[in-house]
Amino acid sequence: MNSTRLEQIERLARERDLPDAAFAALLTGLTPEEEAALYAAARAACERCYGQDVYLRGLIEFTNYCKNDCYYCGIRRSNAAAQRYRLSETEILDCCAQGYALGFRTFVLQGGEDGFFTDARICRIVSGIRGRYPDCAVTLSVGERPRASYQAFFDAGAERYLLRQETADAAHYARLHPPELSSENRKRCLWDLKEIGYQVGCGLMVGSPGQTEQHIIADLRFMQALQPHMIGIGPFIPHRDTPFRDFPAGTLADTLHLLAILRLMFPDVLLPATTALGTIHPRGRELGIQAGANVVMPNLSPAQARGKYLLYDGKICTGDEAAACRDCLERRIASVGRRVRVSRGDCRRGRSTAPEPEPRR
Ligand code: 5AD
Ligand code: FES
Repeated sequence: MNSTRLEQIERLARERDLPDAAFAALLTGLTPEEEAALYAAARAACERCYGQDVYLRGLIEFTNYCKNDCYYCGIRRSNAAAQRYRLSETEILDCCAQGYALGFRTFVLQGGEDGFFTDARICRIVSGIRGRYPDCAVTLSVGERPRASYQAFFDAGAERYLLRQETADAAHYARLHPPELSSENRKRCLWDLKEIGYQVGCGLMVGSPGQTEQHIIADLRFMQALQPHMIGIGPFIPHRDTPFRDFPAGTLADTLHLLAILRLMFPDVLLPATTALGTIHPRGRELGIQAGANVVMPNLSPAQARGKYLLYDGKICTGDEAAACRDCLERRIASVGRRVRVSRGDCRRGRSTAPEPEPRR
């Protein structure tokens, strides 16, 4: 066994940081023993901050129209095979009503970059949800917009925003996106969101084409500067109707290692075990939780929409009703000895770690 790697894991747990070379060593070729030590340290860090709680966020995929053409994504504008849909404002509010009845107190509105959803429409949807459910948080994930739009959404009541940087390296970004998109603008958006006062979520795909260890280390450094409240990572999975159809998917091991490293670097961050992780392995999300993740996002989208929001091949949870998806995840979380929280579950940064009261259920 390589004792240096075990020492690096201990050092990371203690100092929340490592030199680049030590990160590189942890990102490749861990022995099963080292892997177990990494996950145990990440679980302990998570437990110190969040106890046994795993937070549920209700995901509403409200449009799969997108003006962008990212090479990896199944809803890119050039994919003529994608069946496009948009939920009406009423349908979105109906999803929230159903979600509220199921106990959700956070709604994540995610969509492609769809010009139909103007700032005014998004603001009306956000304030409609906040007006009906003042005890709920609204998270937006609608891509790159001007700062003034982000400000308007925030003023309408959106408090959280998810926008993955995808890769912090400009050249790698250019490998994954057409020339009209830039890493620079992506980062500008993230900084704007942060300055406005959002709880910001960034993230990346593990094993995206051309990704190297050095790219991931650049992402870690970027995240240390940004200090996000949430970090969404999942494996890249090829989609048959995209230019990246023939590239291999990111691996379970690489994703779990990175989850655990992120938990140790950012002990209080909200870290989802993503649907993509559940897609590459039948127990991917459970394994993610055991490697330090503490959020899951059941799908609340109406049945006719879910089968169409296909960013990658083989996506799970496309056939279930909202209630079935929630129950399924609750069982999965219980199977790894953890308990579900549906409360808003704000990031605990700078808060006391006093446990929440038991839920009424
Ligand atoms: N595989 C895995 N994740 C993907 N995403 C988009 N396409 C894919 C894919 N083929 C991720 C991107 C995006 C998020 C909404 O989904 O990281 O930011
Ligand atoms: Fe959606 Fe299991 S989590 S069906």
